[in-house]
Amino acid sequence: MKPTGPHGARPNHAHLPQRMGVRVAGSGSSLPARRVTNADLEKVMETSDEWIVQRTGIRERRIHDHAAGESASLLATESVREALADARLAPTDLDLIVVATMTADSPTPSVSCVVAHRLGCGPVGAIDLNAACSGFVCSMNVVHGLLMSGAYRNAAVVGADCITRYMDFSTYGRGTSVLFGDAASAVILRVTDDASKGLLAQAMHSDGGGSRHLFIPSRAEHFPPGAEFEERKLNKVQMNGQAVFKFAVSTFPKLIEETLDKAGLTPEQVDHYVCHQSNMRILDAARERFGLSPEKLHVNIDRYGNTVAASVPLIFDELRRAGRVHDGHKVMFLAFGAGLTWASSLWQV
Ligand SMILES: CC(C)(COP(=O)(O)OP(=O)(O)OC[C@H]1O[C@@H](n2cnc3c(N)ncnc32)[C@H](O)[C@@H]1OP(=O)(O)O)[C@@H](O)C(=O)NCCC(=O)NCCS
Repeated sequence: MKPTGPHGARPNHAHLPQRMGVRVAGSGSSLPARRVTNADLEKVMETSDEWIVQRTGIRERRIHDHAAGESASLLATESVREALADARLAPTDLDLIVVATMTADSPTPSVSCVVAHRLGCGPVGAIDLNAACSGFVCSMNVVHGLLMSGAYRNAAVVGADCITRYMDFSTYGRGTSVLFGDAASAVILRVTDDASKGLLAQAMHSDGGGSRHLFIPSRAEHFPPGAEFEERKLNKVQMNGQAVFKFAVSTFPKLIEETLDKAGLTPEQVDHYVCHQSNMRILDAARERFGLSPEKLHVNIDRYGNTVAASVPLIFDELRRAGRVHDGHKVMFLAFGAGLTWASSLWQV
């Protein structure tokens, strides 16, 4: 039986190491089997590979097969399974699971509870966090704080979304639906006595006034003033692409600057910029602004599109598996999205 404190809780600080940090012990990802190329989209809507590649950099994406049981919770479960194997931990070693998602299978249970149950984690702490595409980056900040408090030792942090559920794959919805794909990806974070590892700086911001540029209405009253109600728009992502583009292009460099300032670092001192993949042109603008090489600011949008909360961990997992993230590297996670929200998390790994 686990020891309990005066109020029945575990004594959080009883076994805290003198010096402590948080390390990334493992990572893993899960993608739907179905690949949908731009040529496939040409068959169902008026679009072209040329238009999509030129405006976004996307060539293909994965789309979940609901009939085959693929969902955010299934992909999240498989990503945590892979991350645990990478960390050489058992499901019962976890004491916290945080899933960043805006596309839970249903309003309740949470995706994290489903993941915990499917993996056999026992009575682990399980919460979902919704900050749209910024969700994983916010979760890294939140979980770092919880681990450093001494309340938990081993956590899974997951980004999982099946956003294509909310897309209109017709000519009418082409301005939005060609951009997105489905995925889940996870990291395992562990308390360590190496105090050099963990968060160096972070930022989390929002502007609810910008929600009218990116939202999913499920009832007539969810349409913001001035937005035209149409039955076919219900339960589909509504996006003002140009407004979101402007927001992203101006916010991204400011977010990088703010985070570098807080950490007292120059752009070159960060080894990897792991950025939300929403549009190649937005990533190129950030690269140019800070003079970053493709080796520092990575791109996989061509293969997966925008996978919402899974986007940042997916590219981080690729980098780790390719052996490109080394001990002591400084890694800046960055994202922006609906809400509007934008967030950073700068780690020494
Ligand atoms: C969506 C986005 C790619 C559109 O690019 P754009 O250059 O702004 O294009 P516009 O919306 O002005 O559309 C230009 C034309 O292309 C057409 N078009 C839109 N989608 C199209 C598609 N998939 N295929 C072909 N034509 C398309 C439009 O109908 C429009 O035609 P018109 O001039 O005859 O009216 C771009 O605005 C963008 O990336 N925005 C940011 C989105 C984002 O990152 N969202 C997620 C945030 S987490």
